Amino acid sequence: MAAVSMQISDGVAVITVDNPPVNAISQAVRQGLMDAIAAANADERARRILLICAGRTFMAGADVSEFGKPPLKPDLPDVVAAIEGSEKPVVAAIHGQALGGGLEIALGCHYRIALQGSRLGLPEVNLGLVPGAGGTQRLPRLIGAEKALEMITSGKPVNADKAAALGLVDQVMAGELQAEALVYTQTVAATVPAERRLSSRPVKTVSGSLFDDWRKVKAKRQRGVQSVQACIDAVEAACTLSFEAGRQKEREMFLALRGSAQSVALQHIFFAERQAGKVAGLNGAELMPVQSVAVIGAGTMGTGIAMAFAQKGFDVTLLELSAEALARGMERICSLNAKSVQRGRMSADQSEAMQARIRTTTDYADLADVDMVVEAVFEDLGVKTKVFAQLQAVCKPDVILASNTSYLDMNKLAATMERPENVVGMHFFSPANIMKLVEVVKTDYCNPVVLKTVLGLLKTLGKVGVVSGVCHGFIGNRMYQSYQREAGLLLLEGATPAQVDRALYQFGMAMGPFAVADMSGIDISYMMRKALTPEQYDTRAFTVHDRLVESDRKGQKTGAGFYRYEGGEGAGVNDPEVLALIESVADELGFERREISDAEIIERCMLGLVNEGAHIVEEGIAGSASDIDVVYVNGYGFPRHLGGPMHYAKAMGIDNAAAKIASYAEVLGDRWWSQSDTLNQAAVQGHWD
Ligand code: COA
Repeated sequence: MAAVSMQISDGVAVITVDNPPVNAISQAVRQGLMDAIAAANADERARRILLICAGRTFMAGADVSEFGKPPLKPDLPDVVAAIEGSEKPVVAAIHGQALGGGLEIALGCHYRIALQGSRLGLPEVNLGLVPGAGGTQRLPRLIGAEKALEMITSGKPVNADKAAALGLVDQVMAGELQAEALVYTQTVAATVPAERRLSSRPVKTVSGSLFDDWRKVKAKRQRGVQSVQACIDAVEAACTLSFEAGRQKEREMFLALRGSAQSVALQHIFFAERQAGKVAGLNGAELMPVQSVAVIGAGTMGTGIAMAFAQKGFDVTLLELSAEALARGMERICSLNAKSVQRGRMSADQSEAMQARIRTTTDYADLADVDMVVEAVFEDLGVKTKVFAQLQAVCKPDVILASNTSYLDMNKLAATMERPENVVGMHFFSPANIMKLVEVVKTDYCNPVVLKTVLGLLKTLGKVGVVSGVCHGFIGNRMYQSYQREAGLLLLEGATPAQVDRALYQFGMAMGPFAVADMSGIDISYMMRKALTPEQYDTRAFTVHDRLVESDRKGQKTGAGFYRYEGGEGAGVNDPEVLALIESVADELGFERREISDAEIIERCMLGLVNEGAHIVEEGIAGSASDIDVVYVNGYGFPRHLGGPMHYAKAMGIDNAAAKIASYAEVLGDRWWSQSDTLNQAAVQGHWD
């Protein structure tokens, strides 16, 4: 089937794009559209043109897989110009998503109608780009500069109703789109009114400081992301230059950004996230049906997990040992929901419906019919084993049993069950109703269909699932320990917590490691380390951590940790007592303190992650280096525009990274800096996979 086809129906040339799965605008689509618009204008049987898409969506954007390859004609801006220049009026009928180039094509059309529930947006900023086919020039002419800035710099799509309110679509349809769109098209004027060609419309004048205000706000909120600032420049050009000059400026920026390091990194993460949800060799395998879910434990994690499921329409049974614990859990859910309603994130009706989907019980017998259980009790293998035994006694045989754990040996837990193949680990990140990452822990016994079902379920929940093998801390926390180790050693060698945190924050991390430790509680990792032997980690690097915990400085919750917190939460202040402690521990352990540069802090912490990551790939704990990047970007505040630690190494040259790791092995010893074959091979190949 051709990517673009045309049929004449009741005086309307119906142009259909059919390029599964998402009608990405490949070269074949661009050429097909050019030809179809010319053919429709030449065909005397048609007076009007309808542009519609087959399959699940309108065009979801430029074909990202063509980026980085030699450009193929025709260019998208020329296609949009040809549509806008059509003598006969063109109506875009949108269903699913009209994203990026898809929306730019729709903006070239003279009328836009959208099916209820469809979404329209310009997400290019998320790929490190500005829209490159007139989107930044036509959108402000249609909906005004401020609303256009909002859509283009956030990259967030709006739904059909909002689009109608903004004036982005002319009508929202509720029935069968093609039939309704045909009727609508027949009603539009046969000659295109001038103002329907957006390029010829003037832009409303805007207040003088609008663009500078946006630049300032965005520089804080989307720190270091070049494309955000470029998007603001492009919309400003729409307001200050002629359409043609603005369009040229937009195109130049698009082409310059397309090859930029940030855009390459963001494209890498886009594909890596989609790859992470796949289980090799299971194409076409049927998923197990999951409609009802039980969550065991109504603590912080359990309630967050229950909310994540209930938000997406699942019936959830929340089980606790006592009615009091259940009441506390439900109170937490109600208060979090009330905050969301207050902030406009959900309506009061949605909140009520969500809460109504969570029923509570203290009786395991109530779980007899559920399709899946997520256990979120205390992080202790003995406790979890007892819970699993109780579940086995009451649940149906093919139930999926998941354990929320951040480091326990899931093989041991699965081995206690009659059906170990139905057991998985699910490491949710806190707060579980918000954080996107979930590590799905695959045991030695795991049935791949169970794994695929859980990954599919996570996609439905709007989460990003990454498969991890069994090891202490799985992918994320095991690597994080290397990062914390280097940060801890750097303190002893001469840096301060504030210097390390500042250097890594400036690099792009959401927070520095010591600020994170204070926020999450230094005692949490202290307890995790208790499960390790001294051979398994560098005890020197965590001596300061341990001393702080032992003197009841556990972080923000105790008013002091690596920093002091005056007046409760908020930014910590430097504490001379901590600096004295660091110096005395350094002395005790025989470190000679020296001047440490910010560059060394960044390199050591990042390459610590990279080296451990390569070992993790070699051991098969992570399926690929790109899975590691997905974990770090979604769970550990790693800047998305740098693509994750493994991509960071690729961007600096894996051979270069390997040479630096080898030199650290010489200076610091090869206990933690030994090189895996995976690293050495990747250094030769220049890529990880
Ligand atoms: N170019 C090339 N391939 C694309 C694509 C694009 N713009 N958008 C999606 N795909 C591919 C995905 O890689 C995936 O391929 P796979 O099945 O081989 O892994 C497939 O289409 C389905 O995408 P997926 O994201 O898994 O489906 P979904 O239904 O969850 O989401 C979208 C659909 C359109 C919302 C989502 O894919 C998306 O946001 N795409 C990007 C839109 C965009 O940024 N456009 C601007 C580009 S400049």
